[in-house]
Amino acid sequence: MIEVQEVTKRYGTFSALDNISFSIKKGEIVAFLGPNGAGKTTTMRIITGFMPPTSGTIRIAGFDGLASPMAIKKQIGYLPETPPLYLELTVQEYLTFVGRIKGLDPAQLLSRMDKIIEQTGLKEVQGRVIGHLSRGYRQRVGLAQALIHNPPVLILDEPTTGLDPNQIIEIRDLIKNLAGSHTIILSTHLLAEATAICQRVIIIHKGKIVAIDTPEQLSAKLQQSETLSLTVEQTYPDFALELGRLPGVLAVTQGTSPNSFMLETQQGRDIRSEVTKFIVSREIGLLEIKAQPLTLEDAFKVLTKESPADR
Ligand SMILES: Nc1ncnc2c1ncn2[C@@H]1O[C@H](COP(=O)(O)OP(=O)(O)OP(=O)(O)O)[C@@H](O)[C@H]1O
Ligand SMILES: [Mg+2]
Repeated sequence: MIEVQEVTKRYGTFSALDNISFSIKKGEIVAFLGPNGAGKTTTMRIITGFMPPTSGTIRIAGFDGLASPMAIKKQIGYLPETPPLYLELTVQEYLTFVGRIKGLDPAQLLSRMDKIIEQTGLKEVQGRVIGHLSRGYRQRVGLAQALIHNPPVLILDEPTTGLDPNQIIEIRDLIKNLAGSHTIILSTHLLAEATAICQRVIIIHKGKIVAIDTPEQLSAKLQQSETLSLTVEQTYPDFALELGRLPGVLAVTQGTSPNSFMLETQQGRDIRSEVTKFIVSREIGLLEIKAQPLTLEDAFKVLTKESPADR
C-alpha cells in the first residue's frame, strides 16, 4: 500500500532523512518511533505530498508521489502535528468546509458527516465552536477532518501528544478501531504507545531507520539486555570499541562525561569481573562500575545501537 524507496531529504547541507526505505501493507498499523528531530514529521510530510523529497520515490496504492500528487492526496488522510482547525467554526461547519475542499458533493458529504461524527465520538459537540472544545475533542476533530473523504491511508503525526491520560486512552482506542479498514502510520516518541497500538514499529534516529520490528520482537530485545555504567580515569581512542568487543557486551554508548560509558549487556550475564579485568589489563584506573536498571532512554539506546552480532 505504501512504498518508500531510498528517500533522502536535505535542508541545505543537513540531511533530515538519509536514504530511508520501507513498505507497509494494506490494513497494517505502523508506528514511527523516534526522539525529537529524528525525522518523523519530515517522513510524513513527504509521504503526504506536502513537500518533495530531495531524492527517492514514494508510491501509495500504486500511484507515484511525484507524478500523481492529486491522486495521492485522495488516498491519504493527514493529521499534522498541529491540526489546521478553524477555532471560530462549529465542528459541523468545519467538517463541511474540509469535505468541500476535498471534493465531496453535498450528498456524499451528508452521508460521510454522520458516519465520521459517530466514529470519532463527536456527536455531543457537533454544534459547538471548535475554540471552546477541550484538547482531546479538538484532536478528535483533527482525526475527523483526516477521515472525511474516507481515505484508505491515514497518516497521524503524534496523535496523542499534549493529551491527558484519559484522552490518550480514548484516542488510542479510536485509532485501533480504525485499523483494519485503513492503513495507518502514526508517529510517537513513546515506546509504550508504539508497542500498544501498532503491529510494526519503525524506529527512526537522526534521519535513518535503525530498526523495523514487531512489538513482540522489540520487547524480547529489550528484555535480553541490561545496562552497566562504567567510569574510568582516562581512555584512549579505541577504548569504547574494545569494550564493545568483550563477550556479553551488546553495545557501548558515551555516558554523561567523556570518561563514563554505558554498556548494554546480555541479560543474566554478569560481566563486571571481565570488564574490570580488561580495564586493569590496559593499566587504566577504574573509578566505578555498577549495574543500572533499564530506563526508557536506555531502552531507546539499545534499540538504536547495532549489536556487535549484527555488524
Ligand atoms: N524546514 C526545515 N528547515 C531546516 N531544518 C528542518 C526543517 N524542518 C525540519 N528540519 C530539521 O529536520 C530534522 C527532522 O525534523 P522532524 O520535524 O522531521 O523531526 P521529528 O522526528 O518529527 O521530531 P519531533 O519529535 O520533535 O516532532 C530536525 O533536525 C529538524 O530541525
Ligand atoms: Mg515531528
